[in-house]
Amino acid sequence: MTDLMPIQGYHHLEFFVGNAKQAAQYYRTAFGFSAVAYAGPETGVRDRASWVMAQGDIRFTLTAGLGPESPIVQHAARHGDGVRDVAFAVPDAEQAFAVAIQRGAEAFAEPVVQEDEQGKVVTAAIKAYGDTIHSFVDASNYSGAYLPGYVGVSEQPAPSAGTATPVFAAPGQPVGLRLVDHIVANVELGRMDDWVNFYADVMGFTQLVHYDDEAISTEYSALMSKVLWDGEGRIKLPINEPARGKRKSQIEEYLDFYHSPGVQHMALATDDIVATVAALRANGLRFMRVPDTYYAEQRAKLDWSAIDEDLDALREQNILIDTDDEGYLLQIFTEPVQDRPTVFFEVIERHGSRGFGEGNFKALFEAIEREQAARGNL
Ligand SMILES: [Fe+2]
Repeated sequence: MTDLMPIQGYHHLEFFVGNAKQAAQYYRTAFGFSAVAYAGPETGVRDRASWVMAQGDIRFTLTAGLGPESPIVQHAARHGDGVRDVAFAVPDAEQAFAVAIQRGAEAFAEPVVQEDEQGKVVTAAIKAYGDTIHSFVDASNYSGAYLPGYVGVSEQPAPSAGTATPVFAAPGQPVGLRLVDHIVANVELGRMDDWVNFYADVMGFTQLVHYDDEAISTEYSALMSKVLWDGEGRIKLPINEPARGKRKSQIEEYLDFYHSPGVQHMALATDDIVATVAALRANGLRFMRVPDTYYAEQRAKLDWSAIDEDLDALREQNILIDTDDEGYLLQIFTEPVQDRPTVFFEVIERHGSRGFGEGNFKALFEAIEREQAARGNL
């Protein structure tokens, strides 16, 4: 059977933020991204400024509106800085959109063709959880830096022309982030299966794994999670919902502050997590901490003959390790990257394992709850 919804990967992730210039500087200095394209007043766009930041195959578009009536500004006011669009690269955006609608998706934007001297791009978009959307992007006939309407940063007019894009004086220093490994959604209590069905019915994804609230619970709070994937590993989308616990779960805290379902965290893959995390720390980024007892437990618990890692180096960077039948993975989680306790990042290095660190959930959630208690939200 031919796949009517072939997804080639993530085209980009678009964040709606309060101040795109400062967000871009943050992703440059803290995460090592470099600006590759820009659209804004200097390039003839009147209602927004968008900075496109890249590292490896990862592309973040950071967009801010320029007036109080802007839906982008209203999105940022309601949700805080957050992920607006998880955009998929597809070979035929019109067909992907038609198939999605026919399978029950709600339209957000009808297919549109955008063209400039560097070719053409077809985009369309459907609604997902909360105010999140999925764009379908066919950029196979486009050679520009990003999308029509954006100026590639290397192609900027000379400053003397008076239309220079406001790029940074220097590119970022890459820290080894290579690609988006998975993107996690938080949805309301009781809605997880609706969204599991959405991705199964509309996108043709299948369930990779299911974690129930027994597996993911601490003394205080619990969550349930199901992971949808494209069957090939390019797209992996865990969906969390809160489960009943003694206190407010971290998922509920997210929902309270994001004011709707949305993207909770994005996992970015590296081939050398110790070096990547050391570089991120040197850039001033802060991570969730697990207690030192975690490492004593892992030394005793795991079969280290199958793990080619130096536990002391992992402990020094506070990196977590988890194993399964297929191999192991290393991971670490940043603190939230905006004032609200909402969106954060994971850095992950996989060695065979296709899991998500379920063996670490308890240690990690207890660490998260300590932070939550410090914010007065537990
Ligand atoms: Fe994750």
